[in-house]
Amino acid sequence: MYHILIVDDSKTSLAAAKNVLSDLFKVTAVTSGSQALKFLQNNTCDLILLDINMPDMDGFDVMERIRDNPERKDIPIVFLTADNDPKTESLCLEKGAMDFITKPFAVNVMISRICRILELEDLRKGLAVRIEEQTRHIRYIQTMTVMGMAAMVESRDLSTGGHIKRSSMVVEVFAARLNSENDFLPKHLLEDVIRAAPMHDLGKIAVEDRVLRKQGKFTPEEYNEMKKHSAEGARIVKQILDGVEAPRFVTVAENVAHYHHEKWNGSGYPEGLAGEAIPVEARIMALADVFDALVSKRCYKDAYSFDEAFSIIEESIGTHFDPTLGRIFLLCRPELETLYTAFNNTTE
Ligand SMILES: [Fe+2]
Ligand SMILES: [Fe+2]
Repeated sequence: MYHILIVDDSKTSLAAAKNVLSDLFKVTAVTSGSQALKFLQNNTCDLILLDINMPDMDGFDVMERIRDNPERKDIPIVFLTADNDPKTESLCLEKGAMDFITKPFAVNVMISRICRILELEDLRKGLAVRIEEQTRHIRYIQTMTVMGMAAMVESRDLSTGGHIKRSSMVVEVFAARLNSENDFLPKHLLEDVIRAAPMHDLGKIAVEDRVLRKQGKFTPEEYNEMKKHSAEGARIVKQILDGVEAPRFVTVAENVAHYHHEKWNGSGYPEGLAGEAIPVEARIMALADVFDALVSKRCYKDAYSFDEAFSIIEESIGTHFDPTLGRIFLLCRPELETLYTAFNNTTE
């Protein structure tokens, strides 16, 4: 049963409305704006009939306060007033009321207006749910496509099997720690970095096979060829995501790809950026990327132990890595050890 809140300082009109509506709806009746706001703190309803002229707080103020509450802001509001001036009516609608009923009300008109609004509201909610489902589905397809591309790129690269998946999971662990240790990074940014992480090496698609598949150390010329992957990755990421994802996310993903090999002291590539000129999302990715490279076996080196890897990271704080982020990364050791033990058990 739909629940209607009636707010009216006139007891006679309140009783009349309650009397008419109680057969069809669950009705809560209060005599002031403050009582209505108090009721809405812990309860909700499907529609509010709100008197405009009330002594303590008028209907417009009450409506504004309701609209300020994110959990109640969508409840449709219908104004009740004895004033049938067309100016008042247009003001009500302008301020966001769904409708306007003049007092004394004609019972049939009032009921049919309420039913129409409730019906519209049901349609709106249904539509909102459908849009949310569709958006989730599109985002899922998008993620799967990107993961598929990342896996394709990685399958050409003989030395880094599983790096994309592992480094992305390291970013997830790191982001959770950053979220709990600090509030200097907004939550949405951390969520964006987690989603962007699998794309950080997409640019390897543009690196020549003879370099990507080389077993052993690179010559300076080969290393230069490999370095192309970061700027190239940013270009590809933009091409895939532009117009599909929110601009904010596109920027984060581009930055992660472009700058994850930059170093805090400016000695990284491709741009040689230093300190905070390196976007924070890329500074986060850099730690996860290097950590995975350290604890994984590559064709040119054995896997380092956790002790060795963490001391290399610690020594590189302030030179390779952002000092604040680097120190927080060190705190992730217990979770990362658990994560890599699980990886090693599943790949053995
Ligand atoms: Fe890379
Ligand atoms: Fe990488």
